[in-house]
Amino acid sequence: MNLGRAVHFLKLLRTECPGGLGSAARTGPVWRGREQCDANHDILGVVMATDKTFYLETFGCQMNAHDSEKVIGTLQHEGYRQVETEEDAGLILYNTCSIRDKAEQKVFNRLNDYKKLHKAGKRFAVLGCVAQQEGEKIFERAPYVSLVSGSASYRKLPDMLIRLEAGETRITGLDDRQTEETFETEFTSRQNPYRGYITIIEGCDKFCAYCVVPYTRGKERSRTSTSVLAEARSIADQGYTEIQLLGQNVNSYRDPEGKRSFAELLAAVGEVGGIRRVRFTTSHPRDFTRDIVEVIDQVPTLCDHVHLPVQSGSARVLKLMAREYTPEWYLERISWIKAARRPISISTDIIVGFPGETQDDFIRTMDLLAQVEFDCVYGFKYSARPNTPSLTMIDSISEADKSARLQVLLDRQREIQRINYAKHLGQIMEVMVEGANPARGQIVGRSSQNKPVNFTCGQPILPAPGSYMQVKIIGTHPNSLVGENV
Ligand code: 5AD
Ligand code: SF4
Repeated sequence: MNLGRAVHFLKLLRTECPGGLGSAARTGPVWRGREQCDANHDILGVVMATDKTFYLETFGCQMNAHDSEKVIGTLQHEGYRQVETEEDAGLILYNTCSIRDKAEQKVFNRLNDYKKLHKAGKRFAVLGCVAQQEGEKIFERAPYVSLVSGSASYRKLPDMLIRLEAGETRITGLDDRQTEETFETEFTSRQNPYRGYITIIEGCDKFCAYCVVPYTRGKERSRTSTSVLAEARSIADQGYTEIQLLGQNVNSYRDPEGKRSFAELLAAVGEVGGIRRVRFTTSHPRDFTRDIVEVIDQVPTLCDHVHLPVQSGSARVLKLMAREYTPEWYLERISWIKAARRPISISTDIIVGFPGETQDDFIRTMDLLAQVEFDCVYGFKYSARPNTPSLTMIDSISEADKSARLQVLLDRQREIQRINYAKHLGQIMEVMVEGANPARGQIVGRSSQNKPVNFTCGQPILPAPGSYMQVKIIGTHPNSLVGENV
């Protein structure tokens, strides 16, 4: 593994949440803040980046982080060189997220911060979900942006780059959401030193009432299992031992060649030589079949973890959300997972304060929380999103009530996790090293169940990201385990 890349990635670890498509991972050089930039650089004095250099920053989920790896690879293939700061770059790209809050406003604020760099001859591109959502409006609000493209159009990036170099200023990739094609490229520039991402299914056809993804990422489309397996083999050849299969609804995967079900694909990826860990996210309860649990039981390389967003414990709210399952349906899948021979850890996403959610609905969510005893919960306050059906529902829950419900949920979950994590005390587990925390003298890693493990290690040389250690658990917290290498 390239050392520079590993060091760069360690910087990212500080901002990355464990798992979950909604986690706020930020890839790209760490944001240094405007004050610091102005103090250290006279913008007019910055050396003009005349060669083909780019700076790319990613907001949002692992899908976005991996899209960026493909965009970076494409740019490099077109002769561009990646740099660490906006100041050093000729082309500045933001790969954006619009899942919650006022994400689009944050992107505009950010663009505004760097407006003066445009005068220094730099070009700007907005990619991803905000690009798709706001479209050409971005040119009106930020006229110095030259390229706006949603993820469904990334296949056309080489062509868009040629037009950019020819001096065009309003290039768009916005009309491909009905495409049947996926963005497959041999030029992926993998930025994560220990985990190889593979997108197996793009887009989403589920249209949950609150969610912007079907409008930003387009129609659901799967890659052939042949091409997924070829990529898995190539990742293994590059030295990766962990693969994470990605999709908004990864288990809605349908092989266009009809060769393999999702569970069969999991097994096949798990059997690729050199691969020791396979993860997949995010699963949708609607398409969660029993053979997924069976295959985890059968194939040792598949990790002991399923991320299965429930969103609410109330049948009424689930119906309003158009999730197309009931709490009973969800709990049946949980019972399959819990009945597995392996100790499969379960995590989830929950939205509080969906329009019309009553105190009684919320109590049902709390009951479900107690019943399942998740190992990790990503809790979100509902936020109205453009184009979504729930935008027209009356957002009747006050911000204060949403915050209060979220706090109650997270406090309860913390207690559940305190008990769950304490059960690991004294166990010896295999941990994959992700980095180090020099201030604490600890190695940072993750168990098969996706639990963060911070441990000490007697060796004089720190283990490299991607290596595996046997760790004895000597302390537990609600969100992490503490151990020592044995
Ligand atoms: N408001 C709040 N949370 C949302 N999510 C998706 N859309 C919204 C929204 N409009 C959450 C869901 C999803 C996770 C990725 O983000 O819980 O599973
Ligand atoms: Fe990922 Fe886009 Fe969804 Fe954000 S809105 S979590 S970037 S798919």
